Amino acid sequence: MTVLALETALGRLLSGDCLPALEELARSSDDRFELAYVDPPFNTGKVHGARLGDGARQLGQTAYADAWGGLDGLLAMLEPRLAALARLAGERSSVWLHLDHRAVHEVKVLADRVFGRAAFAGEIIWVPGNGARRRSGPSITHQTILVYAPDGRMIWNAEDPMLREPYAQTSLQMHFSHIDADGRRFRERHIGGKSYRYYADRGRLLGSVWTDCPAMRANTPLVRETTGYPTQKPEKLLERIVRAASRPGGLVLDPMCGSGTTLAVAARLGRRFLGIDRSPLAIEIAERRLRQLEAARATNESTVQA
Ligand SMILES: C[S@@+](CC[C@H](N)C(=O)[O-])C[C@H]1O[C@@H](n2cnc3c(N)ncnc32)[C@H](O)[C@@H]1O
Repeated sequence: MTVLALETALGRLLSGDCLPALEELARSSDDRFELAYVDPPFNTGKVHGARLGDGARQLGQTAYADAWGGLDGLLAMLEPRLAALARLAGERSSVWLHLDHRAVHEVKVLADRVFGRAAFAGEIIWVPGNGARRRSGPSITHQTILVYAPDGRMIWNAEDPMLREPYAQTSLQMHFSHIDADGRRFRERHIGGKSYRYYADRGRLLGSVWTDCPAMRANTPLVRETTGYPTQKPEKLLERIVRAASRPGGLVLDPMCGSGTTLAVAARLGRRFLGIDRSPLAIEIAERRLRQLEAARATNESTVQA
């Protein structure tokens, strides 16, 4: 059974399995998501506990089980939920599916079947920066986010500054030899009788390998945003995704929202949100996080008005 855990001006948090919740939404509402971010269990074979409390080592409660009796079990869980998501997609919606090496290849085949091979819009290689550990073979230092546009087209806010990255040093040294009247360094190219200027400080279009969004436990621990929920994703990663593929007022959906990272970022960026999770601990943490955000927003508004 799905239970409403929290409703704010911008969105809702539902407690329970996302499958019946998504099916009910498709039946009862015409509201369609612009962006769905899905960060499912990765098939680690473990039961994940949370680290709650002030002492970093304090043992926490069980957050969620990620044991499916093998990969086929995870795929069987995912298939109807992805199909339910496909029914909630609207014009220019996109679905971002976050996985790692344990399941990404099989989930790609599954998602191609559910959304259609032509809906595959690309993939992001996310490098969380935790470093290599393995000595008996190649280390795996990235995770993969598969991106689908069920409609064949997706919202892509190409002009957002978060969708740019610095030029490589070699490129800067070789090509950016001009300085304009404001002191900005640029490169000029002449193509087909037209000239184009590229400014060094604007950076180049972002590629598909993202190394600049460190994980919660990478070299620079993100203490301020850590909730203690296992596998919590960093806000910077979600901020880039939300900025890229949704617009203010658009609906951002996270059907396995864990600690509510996507929802908090969506709310902060003025998007509507819908989050679902079946772990009571996830709901408790996400609810607290969203309430704190609401309280901070209310305080800011009253300070501005005073
Ligand atoms: C990898 S975690 C998500 C972490 C989240 N992105 C964050 O930043 O905190 C996966 C989540 O999927 C949830 N989950 C697994 N199966 C689910 C289902 N059928 N319906 C809803 N939530 C589910 C788990 O409870 C867990 O919180």
